[in-house]
Amino acid sequence: MEHRSFAPGKVILLGEHAVVYGHPALAGPLQWGVRARAKGARRPKLEVPPSLRGASRTALLEAFDRAAAAAGSPKVSVSLESQLPVSMGLGSSAAVSVAIARVLLDAAGRPATVAAVTQLAAEMEREFHGTPSGVDHTCVARGELIAFRRREERSPHVRALASPRALELVVAFAGERPPTRRTVEALRLRQGRWGARYRRLFEQIGAVATEGIAAVEAGDVEALGDAMNVNHGLLAALGLTSPAIDGLVHVLRGYGALGAKLTGAGGDGGAVIGLFAEPAAAVRRLRRLGVACFASQLPAARKT
Ligand code: PMV
Repeated sequence: MEHRSFAPGKVILLGEHAVVYGHPALAGPLQWGVRARAKGARRPKLEVPPSLRGASRTALLEAFDRAAAAAGSPKVSVSLESQLPVSMGLGSSAAVSVAIARVLLDAAGRPATVAAVTQLAAEMEREFHGTPSGVDHTCVARGELIAFRRREERSPHVRALASPRALELVVAFAGERPPTRRTVEALRLRQGRWGARYRRLFEQIGAVATEGIAAVEAGDVEALGDAMNVNHGLLAALGLTSPAIDGLVHVLRGYGALGAKLTGAGGDGGAVIGLFAEPAAAVRRLRRLGVACFASQLPAARKT
């Protein structure tokens, strides 16, 4: 018997990094993602794509072993097919974790509820990221727009958001970037040295995220766009941008983005997002510049 699953990638619209320190974040699923397929085998096994080498390969194999053991060691061989670029801030590791968690639970005959999938994916994400806030795999496992807040010693506070308007995003790539773990650790060192200053910036990001979440629920995309612009400025103040990232943010704003910012860990490159009323023209113009990009929509909540 064969088991199949799909898990989307994600974008953080507001609040990355500050979310690690307990502030709110806004995240939503992409239309692209990762497919997993599990077929009967003698023991749990992952077919790692040949393109994945070195530390990433080892981390994926270790994460899989950990998840397979936690799922009761179902006798399956799992293969993956990803539409997401690796280590670009689009939740590729979270999508891999969630897609694998779903097929492992199915194969083990256990209900693949959102809670069970989230828990198993968290095990894998710890292998990839060390101490992730949980926003990535929570958003990916739920597959919906969420407000997320990490809490000490308790499970995070997660709320699904009903946006009355569709959110049209352009995702563009600003080149390679360091692994999330390294960017998060370097920021932790800076905030350890200059605690009060960094705490103020995290609090500001939290406040902007709270305002942006309210704007989404009110259908005020202009206010969400402004919150994204301010959030980008705060991420720059935290030392998380680069000339490539900032350049692309300004190009997106020049093409009429209501808001534009880096998404995910940032650092040197990675993905940048722009919120648009009409994304198609921006995608065409970016491609003409030779910038890899795509459009993705976070659909409006259905009226009941
Ligand atoms: O790995 P990325 O680029 O999707 O970034 C994750 C978001 C961070 O806030 C930077 C880290 C975290 O654990 O939340």
